[in-house]
Amino acid sequence: MENVITSSAVKVFYGEKEALHGIDLDIPKQGITALIGPSGCGKSTYLRCLNRMNDLVPNTRVAGDIRLDGTDINDAKTDVVELRRRVGMVFQQPNPFPFSVYDNVTYGLRTNGKFSKDELDERVETSLKQAAIWDEVKDDLNKNAWEFSGGQQQRICVARVLAVHPDVVLLDEPTSALDPISSAKIEDTLMNIRDQYTIVIVTHNMQQASRISDKTAFLLNGNLIEYSQTKKMFINPDKQETSDYLNGKFG
Ligand SMILES: Nc1ncnc2c1ncn2[C@@H]1O[C@H](COP(=O)(O)OP(=O)(O)O)[C@@H](O)[C@H]1O
Ligand SMILES: [Mg+2]
Repeated sequence: MENVITSSAVKVFYGEKEALHGIDLDIPKQGITALIGPSGCGKSTYLRCLNRMNDLVPNTRVAGDIRLDGTDINDAKTDVVELRRRVGMVFQQPNPFPFSVYDNVTYGLRTNGKFSKDELDERVETSLKQAAIWDEVKDDLNKNAWEFSGGQQQRICVARVLAVHPDVVLLDEPTSALDPISSAKIEDTLMNIRDQYTIVIVTHNMQQASRISDKTAFLLNGNLIEYSQTKKMFINPDKQETSDYLNGKFG
């Protein structure tokens, strides 16, 4: 299978502290890859490598090789703004801007001024439909996004990422601040778009990983312990540590 992201020997240092100890992980094109592991094992740190969000964390150094469609993303010539368009990110806390739903979803499109009103309207409708929130907001596109529930805000944030047509969507525990019904809607959204986008989701919810992901990577103390098809890992993991974690012995 074709890999959209390849990473090898990825290390991340926060000051003197080495948080990732050399991660080799390739992400296949399309479908959902889950990153699981106990709190503090390096899931967010690894995810932030993929669109260079660690650049924004002071005193941080990334080593190793990370490629998007074969191109080294840490190369000095990389346009980081374009990288983050191609590799979008959704966070744990919904973070819509304090303006209308329409302006949120078109935010990344209006800044380059290339799109007509009709094109913007079309992107808004398509993205909100993909994010499974269109029916709930279509009559309120001018309403401030902050007036919606947390679960709705999170789906608006997903639509905002999808509107710029990324290649990869990263989500860092996108449902852990949400109630079960809203979480289920986010999962539906991800199942909805998994044929069109490459999705990488960090979750500490093993049931969520087993429900929605195609492949699962298990991290522990900054190391990648096991990476395989989700079904295989949950039924018959190769490593004792994986089995112990999946059986709730720690974490
Ligand atoms: N900005 C930071 N500065 C210093 N240490 C950090 C920072 N962010 C994360 N860490 C440390 O790196 C390790 C991995 O953290 P993180 O990637 O957030 O784990 P996870 O997302 O799996 O909970 C932890 O030991 C954490 O304390
Ligand atoms: Mg984290």
